Amino acid sequence: MTAENLQQDHSKAREFLNDAMTFHASGDLDRAEQYYVEVLNHGYRIADILPLLAGVVGAKGKYEAAIAYWNDLLQIRPDHPVALLEKGALHLKVGDAEKAVNCFEAATLGSPDNMLALNNLAVALTQANRQHDALEKFRILVRHQPTNVLARHQVRRLTSRIVPFWHIPMLNDTRRNDAFEAAIVKAIAERGPDARVLDIGTGSGLLSLMAARAGAKQVVTCEVVPVIAATAKEIVEQNGFSDRIVVLNKSSSELVVGQDINRRADILVSEILSSDLLAEDVLTTFEDARKRLINEDALVIPRRATAVGCLVQSEILTKYAFVDQVSGFDVSGFASLAPNKLPVHGTMTEWKRLSHDVDLQVIDLTGTIHSEEYRVIDIPVVSDGMAAGMVQWLKIDLAEGIEFENHPDDYSDGGWLQILHPFLAPVPVQEGSTFRVIVGHDRSSLIVMAAPITD
Ligand SMILES: C[S@@+](CC[C@H](N)C(=O)[O-])C[C@H]1O[C@@H](n2cnc3c(N)ncnc32)[C@H](O)[C@@H]1O
Repeated sequence: MTAENLQQDHSKAREFLNDAMTFHASGDLDRAEQYYVEVLNHGYRIADILPLLAGVVGAKGKYEAAIAYWNDLLQIRPDHPVALLEKGALHLKVGDAEKAVNCFEAATLGSPDNMLALNNLAVALTQANRQHDALEKFRILVRHQPTNVLARHQVRRLTSRIVPFWHIPMLNDTRRNDAFEAAIVKAIAERGPDARVLDIGTGSGLLSLMAARAGAKQVVTCEVVPVIAATAKEIVEQNGFSDRIVVLNKSSSELVVGQDINRRADILVSEILSSDLLAEDVLTTFEDARKRLINEDALVIPRRATAVGCLVQSEILTKYAFVDQVSGFDVSGFASLAPNKLPVHGTMTEWKRLSHDVDLQVIDLTGTIHSEEYRVIDIPVVSDGMAAGMVQWLKIDLAEGIEFENHPDDYSDGGWLQILHPFLAPVPVQEGSTFRVIVGHDRSSLIVMAAPITD
C-alpha cells in the first residue's frame, strides 16, 4: 500500500472509530460493535480497539467473544494487566475458575503490587476450591492492606474452614499436654540429646517445642496443612528454637529419609488420635513411619491407644440419634439416615450408665500392620434401661507409667470429646443380663453396633 493509500485508509478507519465511539456512548452496542470491527479490519490502532470491542461484546453478554478479543490483545501484549484482569473476570462469569486463576496469577506476576489482581486471584482460587492457596493470597493481601475488612473476613472464614475447631481446646488441655511432655522428657533422658526426634502432625509445634526444651538437638516435624505449618514455624521462631526444630509443610507420607530427615528417627512422637481413635488415619501414618522413617528400636509416643466405652441411656442423645412420630406423622423411616457417631461431652450431656467400662478396641501403635477386624463381646448390664448406644472415649499409653484418659466422669476441658455410637434403635436392657455388641475397626473408623439377636 502506498503512503497515500495508507493515509486514506487510516482516515476511513478514524471515521469508523468516531462512529463506533458515538454509538458506544449512546448505548447502541450492536452498532458500536459493528463499527469497531470495521476499525479493526483496517488494522488501525488494534491494541486500543480490542479492549473497547471486548467491553462492548462483554456488555452484550457474549462472554466467549469478549474472551477471544482479550486473547487477541494478549497475543500482542502478553502481560497487558487490564487484558489479564478483564479476561479473568470473564472466565469467572462463565464459571471457569481455573482459567480465571491463570489470568490473575499472570497479572500478579507482572505487577506484584497490584492489590486488585491479588484480590481477584484470591477470589478465583476460592471459587476453584483451592482453599489453601486462596487463604495464602488473602493473608498477603491483609498484610498489605490491614484495614481491608472483606479480605480480613475471608482470612478468618477460610481459616475456620481449614483448621478444625478442636486445636484450641486441645492446646488448652493441660492434662494431655503434661502427659505428652512427661513421655517426651522420659524418651530424651533415655536416648540422649542427640536422638533424632520426628514429630508427625506439628499443629502449633507444641510437642516439638517440648522435645527441644527437654534437650533434643534435632527435631523434624511435618504438618500437612500449609497455614498451620506456617504458623508453627513462626511459633517455633518466637520461642527461640528454630535452630533445633525444622518444620516441614508436608504429609508424613511424603517425607524422604536422606532429603527431609538425615537418617531414620530414634523417637517418634505424634498426636493424631481423633476422639474416636482412628479417624485421623493414625494406623496408616504410624505403619508408614515404622516402615520408612524410624529405626526399628525407636521409641514411639504414644505406644498404645484403647477405645473404651459403656452402654448408656439418655433422653437427650436419643433425640439426636432416633426419630419416630413427629406432628402426628410416622417419620421413623428417617432414622435410618441418622449418623453412626455423635460427639458428646460427658459433662454437657445427661446420660445414665447401663454397664461398667469395657475396652472396645486396643491398638498397638508400634505394630507393623493393622488389619480390619471385629469381634462379638457380651457386656454385663448393671442397670435397667433403654440402651441408646455406647459412649466411647480414649485411654492412651504414652510410655511406661504414663497414661492419659478422657474418661467422661472427670474430663471436661479438652480437645477430645466422648463419642456416642448409637444403635439402630434404642434397646431395652435389664440388670443382670448381658448385652451383645460387635466391636472392631475398618482401619480408619471404629465399628460399634448392637449384635443382631440370633435366638
Ligand atoms: C491433633 S493435632 C496435634 C498437634 C500437635 N502435635 C499437638 O499435639 O498439639 C494433629 C495435626 O497433625 C496434622 N496431621 C495429621 N496427620 C498428618 C500426617 N500424616 N502428616 C502431617 N501432618 C499430619 C493435622 O493437620 C493436625 O494439624
